[in-house]
Parts: sequence; C-alpha cells; structure tokens
Amino acid sequence: MPLETLLAWIPPGSPDEALARQVDGERLPVHIAIIMDGNGRWAARRHLPRVEGHRAGIDSVRDTVETAARLGIGVLTLWAFSVDNWKRPRGEVNTLMRLLKRYLRLELGTLMTHNIRFRVIGRADELASDVQRELSAAEARTAGNTGMLFNIALNYGGRAEIIEAVRRAMAAGVTPESLDEQRFSEFLYTAGQPDPDLLIRTSGEMRLSNFLLWQIAYSEIWVTDTFWPDFRRRHLLEAILAFQKRDRRYGGIKAPAAVALGVK
Ligand code: IPE
Ligand code: IPE
Ligand code: MG
Repeated sequence: MPLETLLAWIPPGSPDEALARQVDGERLPVHIAIIMDGNGRWAARRHLPRVEGHRAGIDSVRDTVETAARLGIGVLTLWAFSVDNWKRPRGEVNTLMRLLKRYLRLELGTLMTHNIRFRVIGRADELASDVQRELSAAEARTAGNTGMLFNIALNYGGRAEIIEAVRRAMAAGVTPESLDEQRFSEFLYTAGQPDPDLLIRTSGEMRLSNFLLWQIAYSEIWVTDTFWPDFRRRHLLEAILAFQKRDRRYGGIKAPAAVALGVK
C-alpha cells in the first residue's frame, strides 16, 4: 500500500517510477539515517558562497522526507548540524540556523499532511533560544502524529550522546550489575527507536564523523558521490534497492547456508 502512495506521486513512465517498482515493499529498511554532506562543495563548483549550498540542500530535505514518508519508512534521521560544526565561520552557522527555522515554518503543513512526527536529537539546549522555540513548537505540533518519525540531528555528536547517556544512567541509579545494552540504549537520544538499518552518506566521504556511533553497529552503509543539494528521491530509491541486495549476517552465517543447514 505505501508503495502505491509513492507511485501516485511519481510521473508515470519516468526513470523514478521504474526504480520505485523494483523496491520490495516487504523488505524496507525500518530506519534510514543520512549524513547530508557536500553542500559547500556543491556551491564551490558553481562559484557560489557555501551558504548557497545549504539553501539548495533544503529541497533535498523536502524531497527525501516526502519520499520516505510515502514509502512507509518508520524512522528517518537527518543530520543537519554536528557538535563540531560550531568551528565554522559565524555567518555560515547563523545561516544554517536561519534556514532551519524557515524550513520548519514552511514545512510544518507537509509534516502534518503526511502524519509525520518531528523530533530533535542532540544538545538542543545549546542552540539559540529562538531556534529552540521553533523546534519545540514543531515537536509539539506533530507529537500526536502516528506515521513516520523524523529525527533531525542538531548539535549532535555520537560521543557526546554516549557520555550524556552514561550520566543519565548514573543519575537514574542504574547499577553496574543491572546495566546491559538494552538498558543503556534507553538513555540515548534515540530511546525506544530501532537502530538504523541503512546509513547513507552523500559527497563520497567514507567516514562516520561521529554520527550515531552506538546505533549504527550493524547498519548497512551506502555512500554516493552525489552532493547533498543534488540528492533526490531517485538516490533514496537507489540506496534502498542496494540495501535490499545486501546480506545482513550480524556475525552469523549467510542466510541461504543457514536455510540449507536448517538453522532457524
Ligand atoms: C553538509 O555540507 C552540511 C553541514 C555539515 C551542515 P558541508 O557544509 O559539510 O559541505 P562540504 O562537506 O564542505 O562540501
Ligand atoms: C558531518 O559532516 C556533519 C553533518 C552532515 C551535519 P561534516 O562535513 O561536518 O564532517 P567532516 O568534517 O567532513 O568529517
Ligand atoms: Mg562536509
């Protein structure tokens, strides 16, 4: 059914339609996380200031969110700002925050239409108060939605998240004996959410840059050379198709061999 919702939105006979028809609706990744990278280089190629790359990247966010929601993806996590991105020039950081506020204002309607729940993961309390207000308003407004969960990772760092989780666990009185992986994950920003099945990074960089270090233990990684502002529904579908060809073993043995051996 969700595949139909997606197909209804894609021009018939287009290459995107052909891609969408190859997707196995029964084996979709439940959680997709994306490192949106390459905005600066996209702009530099066009002799534009870096911030123009960030501006253009908004259209990619729109397209990706709508495609994922229509496909019936459970959780979509987009990384928009890292704890290390404060090292950038003040003007660039300010523009990113302004663009974020504008995105929220313009897209709230779309989030509601598609029944999307919006959440921030990261140290939101260190963001400017006007940004925090806008984020909280979007979270509150979409809190009752029951469709896709859309996490935006803002002022996010994987190590910072783990340290924070340890502190919270200690404050909650968790004893060393009672701590296990399941219990620990309840203190992460992503408490209660499934781990990403698919991690996408744009712009060809083969590194994690401190993203979701705990949660991506067994994520399938897909990297495209495409810069984020050029990323569209087609690329998301390509990533999902590549994911569906992967053989996830979690340390076990190949699935067909397991079947042959009668391993359940
Ligand atoms: C990703 O693009 C956006 C953010 C990190 C906020 P970049 O701004 O990192 O672009 P490049 O990697 O310099 O090309
Ligand atoms: C990671 O990209 C952060 C986001 C996408 C928000 P960066 O561009 O900051 O990472 P590095 O510096 O290339 O590792
Ligand atoms: Mg970058």
